[in-house]
Amino acid sequence: MRRRSFMKGLGATGGLAMTSGLAAPALLSGAGRAYAQGGELNVGLLFSLTGAVAVVERTLHDAALMAIEEINAAGGVAGMQLKTFIEDPASDPATYADRARRLVIRDNCVSVFGSYTSASRQAVLPVVEQRNNLYWYPTLYEGRECSRNVMYGGAVPNQQQQDFVPWLTENFGKRFFLIGNNYVYPREENNVCKMLLAGLGGEAVHEEYVPLGHSDFSSVINRIRTEQPDVVFCTLVGDSDVAFARQYHAAGFDPEKMPCASLTRSEVEVQAIGGEAAVGHFSSAPYFMGYQSPENEKFVQAYLSRYGADQVTHFVSEAAYFQVYQFKAAVEKLDPANITPAAIRDAAVGLTTMAPQGEVLIDANLHTHLWPKIARWKSDGQAEILVQSEARVAPDPYWAYEGETCTGEGLVRG
Ligand code: ACM
Repeated sequence: MRRRSFMKGLGATGGLAMTSGLAAPALLSGAGRAYAQGGELNVGLLFSLTGAVAVVERTLHDAALMAIEEINAAGGVAGMQLKTFIEDPASDPATYADRARRLVIRDNCVSVFGSYTSASRQAVLPVVEQRNNLYWYPTLYEGRECSRNVMYGGAVPNQQQQDFVPWLTENFGKRFFLIGNNYVYPREENNVCKMLLAGLGGEAVHEEYVPLGHSDFSSVINRIRTEQPDVVFCTLVGDSDVAFARQYHAAGFDPEKMPCASLTRSEVEVQAIGGEAAVGHFSSAPYFMGYQSPENEKFVQAYLSRYGADQVTHFVSEAAYFQVYQFKAAVEKLDPANITPAAIRDAAVGLTTMAPQGEVLIDANLHTHLWPKIARWKSDGQAEILVQSEARVAPDPYWAYEGETCTGEGLVRG
């Protein structure tokens, strides 16, 4: 993978090393807590089962729970059963923080698996940082974060956009229309997209943000009709993406001339969109359900036999699944008397595990080395993979930001 010359150089040294959160006071840190008790280890699931992002998060919950139950059926983690505490934060960021507090403090969870949106991850951040707990976050996100209390399992911009944007400009043109929901993730991804476009001699002809859950895109569709961009670059999430795709199709736009290029649309949104409305549009992601590998075949079969033949797997549910196995591998490196969230984090660094997308690796910066792909959606709701990286790509959450690097010590500026 090529690094663009206008992006920051790697290897920044010197400068101030700091984590993004507060230093954890000893009483809050969990250092004196006993996590492994009575042959059990408590873990939390914090995915929305109701509300605007439940269309995605329910599947993350299902995939993580499947991994937990597989592990328990096979004898547990270092001989201990995982005891699961489930909360539904109802797609509301403040409720994520409240429920995370319950899981970490009341339920004594040694790790919590949760969140799709960056808004909800950011709401949980102060809770896990103050208590020195560990939040396993499976979702693609905008980068520019470097917590020592989050295990980032999804793609950051250099793992999704670095090849996608040039590929789109080569195949369709350089005039992009940017549409996203109004929160940190779409805005930061679009900043990266605009930097990439500028380096390629392209431009964003229009940029628009709608509230989470927004579903009437008539004015956006009118604006697209007026601008006639080459590519509609889409960072809508959940119900908004589903509504937009249907209205885009109903407006009669031809994906061969003006495709939507999405960083968020996966098999689960495509299934919710239904019919022909997603066909011919593009997504960039490290995993698609149709990817052929023995691990993926096993994952898909297990998921469908457990949840129904009409269900789908996708790039965030895959990460929700493999992160539980990463957690297991890390815990198994520890002395059972010394299992704490911080010890699990330290043991996880450098771990490689086989995931459905290929072998993934946890970097010292707690993000994950992944296998980027570009695909076009077909009429059966599956993706045709058109481009696949030849090597695992290292995560660089500050790729687009000169002078900042996320390291094993936290964020380094200099
Ligand atoms: C996202 O909000 N990270 C999709």
